[in-house]
Amino acid sequence: MSATARKTAPMPEDIRARKGGVPLVSLTAYTTPMAQFMDAHCDFVLVGDSVGMVLHGLPSTLGVTMEMMILHGQAVRRGLSRAMMVVDMPFGSYEAGPEEAFRNAARLMSETGAGAVKLEGGVAMAPTIAFLVARGVPVMAHVGLTPQSINTLGGYKVQGRGDAAAALMADARAVTSAGAFAVVLEKVPAALADRVTAEVGIPTIGIGASAGCDGQILVVDDMLGLFTAFRPKFVKRYATLGEQAEAAVAAYAEEVRARAFPGPEHVFAETAGGKS
Ligand code: KIV
Repeated sequence: MSATARKTAPMPEDIRARKGGVPLVSLTAYTTPMAQFMDAHCDFVLVGDSVGMVLHGLPSTLGVTMEMMILHGQAVRRGLSRAMMVVDMPFGSYEAGPEEAFRNAARLMSETGAGAVKLEGGVAMAPTIAFLVARGVPVMAHVGLTPQSINTLGGYKVQGRGDAAAALMADARAVTSAGAFAVVLEKVPAALADRVTAEVGIPTIGIGASAGCDGQILVVDDMLGLFTAFRPKFVKRYATLGEQAEAAVAAYAEEVRARAFPGPEHVFAETAGGKS
């Protein structure tokens, strides 16, 4: 069912059932108004930990906290009625062990109303994913380039090239067996993304992967041209809102300095009988 035709948000199992069907559509969101723009068009919206870089000016996602994810999760939830919301587990909230991961995942879900959480990692995180799923927490996995591990990966490089393809395939298989309902494939060669998509029984959600994935996700500020600090090859800009915003601010500044704003239509008459 298309997002526009749907009256209520899909559940993680509905997303899982879309394997091999019409591609799943998703974007990140961090605020209520952005979520409202997406609600009719996306199957799910991710409150990504990219919020740290995109909205808070952090140099990476490593400084993102549970409190930030909860605050932005609550804001996004208020803007959605038809798309499912997934919230990222921030760095340090799940890696130490399954119990701590459960406590934090439960907090994210109960305090934001998220339908699922997302966490990064393959084989190493499979036991944690299984622990969460067995206790009622739907998990979206994330393999390939996992930005929370940039310090061990050596930067934002393409993952799974050459001999590394087998490990990436093992990661995707492990999260599938652990019970994840979908898996994000970030920055992997297109042919490998297609092989993973053919191999695993859950939807693959590509970002810098392949049009053959079961769905796609982008960081909303990237695709709107609002986040201009860097522009990865896999981002297609559907708008140039950053340029428009700067031009609008410049025009406003010029008009204020020239006393051209506010104009007569923006000010109030002394009596209510005049123009409001
Ligand atoms: O935090 C994020 O934005 C992500 C991506 C998959 C879009 O995890």
